[in-house]
Amino acid sequence: MTRSELRDHFLRVRRLTEDICAPLTPEDHVPQPVADVSPPKWHLGHTTWFFESLLLGQYIPGYKPFHPDFAWILNSYYESLGPRVERPLRGTLSRPSTQEIVRYRASVTEQMQGLIDSIGDDQYEAFSELTILGVHHEQQHQELLVTDLKYILACNPTWPVYRTDTGVREGSPATLPPMDYVDIAGGLHEIGYAGSDFHYDNEGPRHQTFLQDFRLGQRLVTNGEYLQFVEDDGYAKFDPWLSDAWMQVREEQWTGPLYWRHLDGEWHEFTLGGLVRLDLDAPVCHVSYYEAEAYAFWADKRLPTEAEWEVAATVTGASPQSALFFDDGTFHPRALPADTLQAGRLSQMYGDCWEWTGSAYLPYPGYRRFEGPLGEYNGKFMVNQMVMRGGSCATSRDHIRPTYRNFFKCDKRWQFKGIRLADEA
Ligand SMILES: [Fe+2]
Repeated sequence: MTRSELRDHFLRVRRLTEDICAPLTPEDHVPQPVADVSPPKWHLGHTTWFFESLLLGQYIPGYKPFHPDFAWILNSYYESLGPRVERPLRGTLSRPSTQEIVRYRASVTEQMQGLIDSIGDDQYEAFSELTILGVHHEQQHQELLVTDLKYILACNPTWPVYRTDTGVREGSPATLPPMDYVDIAGGLHEIGYAGSDFHYDNEGPRHQTFLQDFRLGQRLVTNGEYLQFVEDDGYAKFDPWLSDAWMQVREEQWTGPLYWRHLDGEWHEFTLGGLVRLDLDAPVCHVSYYEAEAYAFWADKRLPTEAEWEVAATVTGASPQSALFFDDGTFHPRALPADTLQAGRLSQMYGDCWEWTGSAYLPYPGYRRFEGPLGEYNGKFMVNQMVMRGGSCATSRDHIRPTYRNFFKCDKRWQFKGIRLADEA
């Protein structure tokens, strides 16, 4: 990437983060209703800390930090970069003020821009690689910012509307035909990233894997289909649930997906465009791995493995073109028009909702963690989490790839996560 391309890319992504926060009040920037959900102010600061700690501090001789406390109050989980405010305490940071964090952002953005323009040619390659990682890190936090913001607003008893112009559609009846399946040939396949463009370390090494013949649901499971599971007392009977899952359902008193609300005899869903009647053709969203697995069991199907998902996306040439991404600003998955379904073709593989797979998040054969802080980026989380694929309506379109591996713990529901079914051939 040339200097001018890097500068434009960097500045565009930095501005987008600020655009997400533009409709917020100062008070919206502070709450942390649960440990998982970080305050918007923290995301604004932490994404800036990444550039300050890993780039400005390394490449500007004698660099003087913007504020002596920011190195530790905005560190997320990097043990090698020193102590930090523990995650559940991020909401206690009423200081620094949001205005101070905004000034911090402006200062670091300006100094990064200066470095992009002035750094010596001998250092440019390593510098630009790390800057591109910082930009992708910020895009990941843009998705987290949208998801966390939704959770924060949903916890407010008045259910505030984030934006009135998101274009989220009011509920409509089911019109899609019953789920169809696409056959994919098994055999020896290769998965994992092979190329020279940006990718995370956990996407490689590319390696061979053997698959039996399998079938993949042609589209995502809809709200209407999931509602049948709910109305079949899905959340009241132990049968479809794994043991840990059933414990979670009872402890948390789950009765449906995270943002479903049953009001005046009708199902509704909280969205960033406000509360709407449930759209029965839209993909079911905000379900945990536990719920995805239980639904698949109830439907006499299963979840795809991540290798099946990647092979299917690749061999069928699935396209991200028609799906909703962060760039579209709706921040809610969209119902698929029935006339876009084509026999033998997979729809909604990218965007709309992340798709839970039945695969544990583990290193690929030959994977080695980086030395230093970047070794903490992905590798140390390879335990007790499941892989999700495909991106969501809160993922940037240029941030997703067939090999992209996202990962979350089985009980987490606040990301935009949905369900694609798989079956034996
Ligand atoms: Fe981060």
